[in-house]
Amino acid sequence: KSIDDVEQLLSRMGLDEKIGQLNLVNPGGQVLTGAVASVDVDRKIREGRVGMMFGTASLDQRRDIQSICLSQTRLGIPMLFASDVIHGYRTALPLPIALACSWDTDLVRRAAHLSATEARADGIDLTFAPMVDVTRDPRWGRVAEGFGESSKLASVMSAAMVEGFQGDQGNNGTLLDVDRMAACVKHFAGYGAADGGREYASVNLGPIELHETHLPPFKSAIEAGVKALMPGFHALDRIPVTAHPDLLVEVLREAWRFDGLIISDYTAIAELIAHGLGDASDVAAAAMKATVDIDMVGETYEQQLSQLVRDKRVSSESIDMACRRVLTLKYELGLFEDPMRYLDPQRAKETIGGSTILREAREMVSRCCVLLRNEQNVLPLSIEKMNAQSTAPSIAIIGPLADDRSNLPGTWSVSADVDGCVSLHDGVRKWVGDDVRIETARGCNLTDSPQLAERLNVFGETVTIDERPIDAMVDEAVQVARSCDVVLLAIGEAKEHAGECSSRTELSLSQSTQTLARRLREAGRPIVWVVFSGRPLVLTECIDQADAVLYVWYGGSLSGPGIADVIFGKTNPSGRLCMSLPRSVGQIPVHHDALPTGRPLPKDVVFEKFKSCYLDESNDPLFPFGFGLTYSSVAYDRPSVTTSVADGDVTVFAELVVTNTGERSCEEVVQCYLHGPAAPVSRPVWKLHDFRRVTLRPGESKTVRFQVDPEAWAFFAGRRIGEMRWERCHGEARIGIGPNAAELVSTNVAV
Ligand code: IFM
Repeated sequence: KSIDDVEQLLSRMGLDEKIGQLNLVNPGGQVLTGAVASVDVDRKIREGRVGMMFGTASLDQRRDIQSICLSQTRLGIPMLFASDVIHGYRTALPLPIALACSWDTDLVRRAAHLSATEARADGIDLTFAPMVDVTRDPRWGRVAEGFGESSKLASVMSAAMVEGFQGDQGNNGTLLDVDRMAACVKHFAGYGAADGGREYASVNLGPIELHETHLPPFKSAIEAGVKALMPGFHALDRIPVTAHPDLLVEVLREAWRFDGLIISDYTAIAELIAHGLGDASDVAAAAMKATVDIDMVGETYEQQLSQLVRDKRVSSESIDMACRRVLTLKYELGLFEDPMRYLDPQRAKETIGGSTILREAREMVSRCCVLLRNEQNVLPLSIEKMNAQSTAPSIAIIGPLADDRSNLPGTWSVSADVDGCVSLHDGVRKWVGDDVRIETARGCNLTDSPQLAERLNVFGETVTIDERPIDAMVDEAVQVARSCDVVLLAIGEAKEHAGECSSRTELSLSQSTQTLARRLREAGRPIVWVVFSGRPLVLTECIDQADAVLYVWYGGSLSGPGIADVIFGKTNPSGRLCMSLPRSVGQIPVHHDALPTGRPLPKDVVFEKFKSCYLDESNDPLFPFGFGLTYSSVAYDRPSVTTSVADGDVTVFAELVVTNTGERSCEEVVQCYLHGPAAPVSRPVWKLHDFRRVTLRPGESKTVRFQVDPEAWAFFAGRRIGEMRWERCHGEARIGIGPNAAELVSTNVAV
C-alpha cells in the first residue's frame, strides 16, 4: 500500500462517505466523558457514516467493529479507535502534573511509551493526550492533567510525551510499531486560563500572553510531529476556539504548517450554538472554515455538511481535505495495511500489565513525589533504627487514603485496573515485612459534605463519609498513633476532586482532616503526611502539625510500593513542584513568572501601604515553583557569566558548581531563570529558561552550564493573534540560578 492509495480511495468516495470519515462517535459502553452518547452506532458504521470511535468497551468489541468495517461497508475503510490514554492505560501511571514534577523528560517519554504499549496492544490507535495547557489556577480541576505553570517546562514535557506516544518522528519513529499510537495535543489554546478556574468558562488573554505563555507547548508538540490537535471548549477573547480562524488557520495551519487532524472536543461544534454563533448549519460551516476536521459525538457535520456543500456554503474541497487527513492518519497507523494487527488478543494478554511496565510504574511514582518538609530528618524511616529503638517496632497508617485503592489511579484513568492498584498500607507492609506491627485508623473524611461526596462518586464509589462524630473518629486515631512509633498520615483530596468538571473554590483540607492533623500531636509521635492530590492544595492552616510532608499526587497502580520506596529511603526524593502551592485561594493565580508592578513590595515585607500586596496575606506562595527537598543537601556556588557576540547578537553562558554536602547520593534540579532587558512590553520578573538534573554522590561537586541564545530575550510584538512576531532587544538583563524560583542568585548581563 502506498499513500497514493489514499488519493485513489478518495476519488471513489461519495460525499456522504467522506463526511462519515469526519464523524467520531462514542457508543457509551465505557466511562462517558461527555454528557451524551452517540445513538444508532451499529447502523451508522455499516452505512460508512463513522470514521473514528472512542469509548468502546473491550478489545472484542473493537475486533467486531473492525470486521464489520472491513467486510460490510461499501469501501471497507478501517475504523480508527481512540481513547483518553492520559497517564497509563490498564496500568495507571502518575498524573501528568506529577510526571512534570520529575523534571525528567526521559521519564515522561517513557511514561507515554508505556501507555502507548498497553493501549495499542488493546487496539487503541489514538490518544487524546497530551494536555499541555499552561496552568496557573489550581481551582481548575484539569491542572491534574497538565504540566503546570511554566511554559518552558510544559513545552519540553509536551515534546517528550508526543515522542513517547508516537515514537520519535524526526528519527524514523513510526506509528506502524505495535507499541506506538497517535497523539492528540489539547486544548488549543489558553484553556488553562479559564475565568475563575471554572470548567468550560471563557478565557480572556491578550495576544502577547497567549503567544508567549500558552502557545509554546503546542508548538513544541507540533515540532515533535504530533498527529492531531484538539481545540478547547472555551471562547478566547470572545471567539470560541472551535471556530477561531485566526488561531486555527492563521497560526496553526499557516504559520506553524500543521497538517494533522483537528479533532473537536466532545460535542464542541454543536455547543457553538449555545456560544451564540448561530444555528446548526452556521456552526458546522464555521468549524469547517476554521479547518476542524473531526466532529466528536455531536454529529453536526453528519447532519449539516452535505446540505452546506449543496448550498455552496462549504466547499467540497474542504471536505476532501479533512477526509484526506483522516485517511492519511489511518494509513500512517498501518490500518489499511493490516487493521487486525492491532487487535490481537494474544498480544494484549502478553503485554498489558507486564513486569517491565510494573517495575517502571513503581519507579515513576517514587520519582514524582515532592518532599516539602522534613523536620529533624524524620524521613527516611529506617527499619534498622526502629528495630534498635524498640523491641516491637510499629507504624500507624492513618487517614482515609491509608488503605485505599479506589482513588489511586487518579482522575482520567478510564481504562485503569483498580483491583491491580497497591495501597499505601500494602506497599509499606511489603517493605517492612512481618516484624513491624502496622496499625490503621480512618481518622477523618476526604470531604465532610455528603452532597460533595455524591458528586465525587459519579464514576464509582471512591469517597465514603464516616458517620461518626469527628471527635470519635479522631479519638480512635490518636489512640492508634499513641500505640505506635511513627505515624504516616494519608490525606488529601479524592481522585475525582480533580479532573474534568472538578473545579473547586476551596482548596484546604477538609475540616475533619484539619482537626485530625492538629489533634494527632497529642500522641507525641513523629508525623509524616502523605498528601494525595491532583492539584496544589492549600496546606497553610495546619502544615506546622507535620514533621514531614511528602506530596505524592496520584501515582497510579503502583502508588503504595513507589511511595514506600521514598519513605524508607530506597529512592531519595528528587521531585520539584511544577506549580506553586498557594497560601490561600485568594492569592490565586500565584506563579513564578508574574509581571513586575510599578509598586513592588520590598523583599521580606508582607504589607506596605500603596504597594502591590494584600492586607491579609503575603504575596508569596507557601511553596514556590521548583521547590522540593531531598534527603541530602546541595550547596550552590555563585554563577559566573560570560558572553560571546556574533553579528551584534549576544549569547550568554552561565556556569556554576553545585556540591552535595549531605550524606546520600541525590539528584538536584538546577534551575535557570531570566529577566529580559528593557523593551516596549513588560516581562516577567523571573521566567524559567532551562534546567539540568545532576546526580551527585556525597561530597561530589559538578559544574552545571546553561546557554542563553539571543532569541531568549526577544518579546512578542503585534496586535492580532494571527500576526504576532518576535522582536529582539538589547540592554541590561538578569540571569538567576538556584534550586527553586524563590532562591535565585542573580547576575546582571548586557545582551
Ligand atoms: O479528550 C477529552 C477532552 O479532554 C475533554 N472532553 C472529552 C474528551 C474525550 O473524552
